[in-house]
Amino acid sequence: MADRAAVNPVPLPHDLLGRPLHDLRLSVIDACNFRCGYCMPADRVPEDYGTDASQRLSFDEIDTLVRAFVRLGTRKLRLTGGEPLLRKRLPELVRRLAVIPGLDDIALTTNGMLLAQHAQALHEAGLRRITVSLDALDPQVFADMSGRRGRVEDVLVGIDAAVAAGFRRLKINAVVQGGVNEDQVLPLVERFRGTGHVVRFIEFMDVGDSNDWRRDRMVPSSVLRDRIAAHWPLHPLQADYRGEVAERYGFDDGEGEVGFVSSVSTPFCGDCHRARVSADGRLFTCLFAADGADLRTVVARGEDALAAHVADLWRARGDRYSELRGSPEVRDRRRVEMYLIGG
Ligand code: GTP
Ligand code: 5AD
Ligand code: SF4
Ligand code: SF4
Repeated sequence: MADRAAVNPVPLPHDLLGRPLHDLRLSVIDACNFRCGYCMPADRVPEDYGTDASQRLSFDEIDTLVRAFVRLGTRKLRLTGGEPLLRKRLPELVRRLAVIPGLDDIALTTNGMLLAQHAQALHEAGLRRITVSLDALDPQVFADMSGRRGRVEDVLVGIDAAVAAGFRRLKINAVVQGGVNEDQVLPLVERFRGTGHVVRFIEFMDVGDSNDWRRDRMVPSSVLRDRIAAHWPLHPLQADYRGEVAERYGFDDGEGEVGFVSSVSTPFCGDCHRARVSADGRLFTCLFAADGADLRTVVARGEDALAAHVADLWRARGDRYSELRGSPEVRDRRRVEMYLIGG
């Protein structure tokens, strides 16, 4: 602790609602090889979508950025996209970030299509946690949900490859939409119960302006939880840490746990300590923010300047979109697209 204080002259910022800055979710690329309808609908996002490499933060810039965030209290980093495995030389980036003092945890969120190819190198580079998005086991439903780009078999092979590479206890995220993949919930639970992996069901959210969100397509977590418990009785578990996004439930028979991310039915803004940075270096203080603050020019001035600048931005933060959803205050506001900030 003494060492950390010595290199940390910036007072740890709290936002307007008293929330610290604990997690950074960093997008390394805004392109994706899928076109999930709830995120990047194929009819709205061009096939060749993606900013030029020159517009993305370089590994040097990312290194400076993450170090500045760590000074402000960030202990967890999640690499996201788009699809982060499309970013070239990602293991090299992980290797650099893994040695940053004070950063306790580096995780990655992927759609899993390219995981078999990269799992070993990522593990060797120091990555220890992977979350795979997997909305269906049925090959047809899966293919449709990925915009006919993905094959469920490849994702399952990717999960096995991650285990073979040394990753333990993967998180498997499934976004549930009424009439689309509701029937996949029980098969997903059955498949991963007892494997050590944790399936989490995410309520379909109104992120971005292109996914035609309607509340009646969102299946509340309480409905899914009751349905699962009717097959495999459940009991609530304590959160792993303060501000955990998913509510955890254990199977009474000891075969592991399942989680629910219920940001529509049960907003959790009160404990939200997450910052998001897009691949081109803009800071978004909420998943539903309209705009991001450009950090790139400040990154060029170095870690100290950046830490001071981000601290000021964080202190001015008052976001709590999910708590205000539908109210006049936020109803007509633009919302950043999910594939720019990785969820
Ligand atoms: P851990 O670090 O492993 O605890 O990960 P996590 O559960 O925080 O991250 P993950 O990316 O798996 O989060 C699951 C999903 O929850 C995301 O893909 C988002 O859809 C949603 N989510 C995460 N953070 C927030 C948030 O701050 N607000 C809202 N509304 N949704 C969020
Ligand atoms: N609602 C809920 N979750 C979403 N994700 C992407 N778009 C949405 C949405 N509209 C999730 C993906 C993935 C993570 C990056 O964000 O399924 O798990
Ligand atoms: Fe790609 Fe993930 Fe968005 Fe699907 S949810 S389109 S995999 S970024
Ligand atoms: Fe945080 Fe915004 Fe999500 Fe609320 S809606 S939990 S403030 S990211």
